[in-house]
Amino acid sequence: MGRVAELADVSVRTLHHYDEIGLVRPSARTASGYRAYSSDDVERLRGVLAYRRLGFGLREIAELVGGPSADTDAHLRRLRGLMLERRDHADAMLAAIDKELQSRGKGPRVTPEEQPETLGARLYDTIGGAYPVTRRTDPRIAARIWNALEDARTVLNVGAGTGSYEPADRDVTAVEPSAVMRNQRPAGSAPCVAAAAESLPFEDRSFDVAMAVSTVHHWRDPIAGLREMRRVARRVVVLTYDTDAPGWQDRFWLTRDYLPEFAAVLAEFPSLGGMADAIGARAEPVPVPWDCADGLFEAYWRRPGAYLEDRVRRAMSVWTRVGPEAERRAVRKLSDDLDSGRWSERNGHLTGLDTAELGLRLLVA
Ligand SMILES: C[S@@+](CC[C@H](N)C(=O)[O-])C[C@H]1O[C@@H](n2cnc3c(N)ncnc32)[C@H](O)[C@@H]1O
Repeated sequence: MGRVAELADVSVRTLHHYDEIGLVRPSARTASGYRAYSSDDVERLRGVLAYRRLGFGLREIAELVGGPSADTDAHLRRLRGLMLERRDHADAMLAAIDKELQSRGKGPRVTPEEQPETLGARLYDTIGGAYPVTRRTDPRIAARIWNALEDARTVLNVGAGTGSYEPADRDVTAVEPSAVMRNQRPAGSAPCVAAAAESLPFEDRSFDVAMAVSTVHHWRDPIAGLREMRRVARRVVVLTYDTDAPGWQDRFWLTRDYLPEFAAVLAEFPSLGGMADAIGARAEPVPVPWDCADGLFEAYWRRPGAYLEDRVRRAMSVWTRVGPEAERRAVRKLSDDLDSGRWSERNGHLTGLDTAELGLRLLVA
């Protein structure tokens, strides 16, 4: 087994797993009676690994290499369809990036009229329709934010979306660049201005406090947006992420084991220290409750099956940003691991926790 693992460049653990689930079983015997891989087994393993590289999940691979009845042609046609979809997605992203680059090149970055047309807003004009399905106020996170507002009477909510964390007992003004999100604000919610954080259409010190929740990572220029908040308000409260700690990608099993592409999404995101410095803030950790009511990316850390649900993923921008190929691969792998018990083996200890520290931070200035 060791030799085959070495030749195929996989771990012995992987071979054991393939053996356990019946995907590639060593069928030969050595002279001393130990099980060994025949040349047919090695050939089958090569096929399995090739399909893995193409992004198939183990269950599908089992069908592909299953036997004489396996309809390899049909699967290859499906694979071709998936590849075309991936190409279309890449083309659409390239077009959006080119448009953004073009608008960046124009003298003053963008005019106030163009401002809502930023990449982040365009993303929410595309995916925002799914947002209200699972994105709601979590009372524990809300309590942390509202507590940090202290005695502020006038509140500016930047990147307000559907207004999940707007306090009902203050005078709130919302700012939201995506028309789709603005149109989904419940009747009677605070007035909402179409603008982006990087250029807030308000006089200096117009508000007691400016708040921003789960939005800074979408801004074209987070530091400029935070400075704008500081300019228009006496105090600033921001819920964001800490990507300063080395190996932060490993703190959540979903990123670590299934969606390493998430790290690239936040690759350009400014450090928490840099953001805190820009507004003179202190950072406080915000643990994620096990039954978090707001379906943000980390919300289901103790309910892994939720990530298999399309309606849950559609309300998390991460999945759109990593693209359909990475999403399909991650979901298949998670589904396999939940079925085989591997997820529980690695993460079973989480069932004993009520909250998890997953890098959410409240910046208070
Ligand atoms: C994940 S949603 C958060 C919405 C809301 N704050 C909440 O907690 O439910 C991110 C929001 O940021 C908005 N956004 C994107 N780019 C922005 C920008 N440059 N300035 C302000 N908001 C922006 C999006 O349109 C979207 O509504």
